[in-house]
Amino acid sequence: MPEHALQNNMTRKRVAIGVTGASGQIYAQYIITELLANPSVETDIVFTDTARQVYPAETGAALPAGLIPNNTYFNRNASGSNAADVFIIIPCTMGTIGRIAAGTSDDLICRIADVQLKERKRLIIVPRETPYSLIHLRNMTTLTEAGAIIAPASPSFYTNPKDLQELIQNFTSRILDLAGVAELSREHRWMP
Ligand SMILES: Cc1cc2nc3c(=O)[nH]c(=O)nc-3n(C[C@H](O)[C@H](O)[C@H](O)COP(=O)(O)O)c2cc1C
Repeated sequence: MPEHALQNNMTRKRVAIGVTGASGQIYAQYIITELLANPSVETDIVFTDTARQVYPAETGAALPAGLIPNNTYFNRNASGSNAADVFIIIPCTMGTIGRIAAGTSDDLICRIADVQLKERKRLIIVPRETPYSLIHLRNMTTLTEAGAIIAPASPSFYTNPKDLQELIQNFTSRILDLAGVAELSREHRWMP
């Protein structure tokens, strides 16, 4: 690899995205579109088997190209020696939350989450379920105590979004701000 390419790689933020089989696949669609259009970010994307079914069912779109299989650990993000800068699981099922909280590392998404926690790197989990059981709440408490950020799919209305697209974009922009990828623009803030 030429020297300039190496330098470029070293300055680009590495973001891993995990998509699981919860409702709210439109959040994944928007955040993936934004990240792939951002030249200062390297994006690795993993879908669970269920997400591969729910994504086209909810969005009407084909799966994004270049997905990393969830059933292999031969991936750079699976090792603390090469961890991502940030891992965002969006949307995140209660099943995946339970497995991460139990430390199972039994698929690539759970392993990447485990790596982020052990390396004290950023892990943002966007859960989608309603209502929550005590088990869900305890698992999210465990993950918060371990250092994860639980950022529920609760879009804001104080910016008076005019349609669904704006509502979703407000929320995904907030997540990318939390991830340190793109600062929230003035119009997405309370009292701009
Ligand atoms: C259309 C559809 C919507 C679902 N929505 C949710 C949801 O919002 N939250 C959730 O925790 N599980 C939801 N599930 C159930 C999960 O997909 C199921 O528990 C699955 O085992 C999760 O696997 P994964 O975490 O590996 O993706 C949904 C399933 C389907 C088919």
